[in-house]
Amino acid sequence: AATRHEAESAPAICDGVVESNHTGYSGSGFCNGGNAVGAAAQFTATASAAGTATVAVRYANGGAADRPADLLVNGAVAHAGVTFAPTGAWTAWGTRTLTVPVNAGANTLRLSPTTADGLANIDYLDFEAGGTPPAEGRQ
Ligand code: GCU
Ligand code: CA
Repeated sequence: AATRHEAESAPAICDGVVESNHTGYSGSGFCNGGNAVGAAAQFTATASAAGTATVAVRYANGGAADRPADLLVNGAVAHAGVTFAPTGAWTAWGTRTLTVPVNAGANTLRLSPTTADGLANIDYLDFEAGGTPPAEGRQ
């Protein structure tokens, strides 16, 4: 089963403000990142072994344009420019699922926006470790 990491709860970090003014979030709120390149939401998730993990990021984007962000794992870009497409309203939440490489032990997963609009509002990251590391040169 996946482990839920709420964006508003330590050790998660929100480069912005934790808010609860748009309904439909899990936990006690969501991360409204600053509207700036690099204003990130960061999570720490633990894997029992090195390999891959599936992460599902719940978000809302009530704007008209994508809110792209790089997903960095332990400081290295695992996915560049993940789109985070509009969800139609700030109260409408969607999920973006990605596979990432992980180390045994604690891993930092950082969503770093690449445009001046900043991140979509981020609710949580579900993390499920499992699977074998990708073969070299694959991905
Ligand atoms: C609005 C909305 C925020 C959102 C922001 C944005 O202010 O209420 O929740 O984060 O737009 O465009 O980033
Ligand atoms: Ca924002």
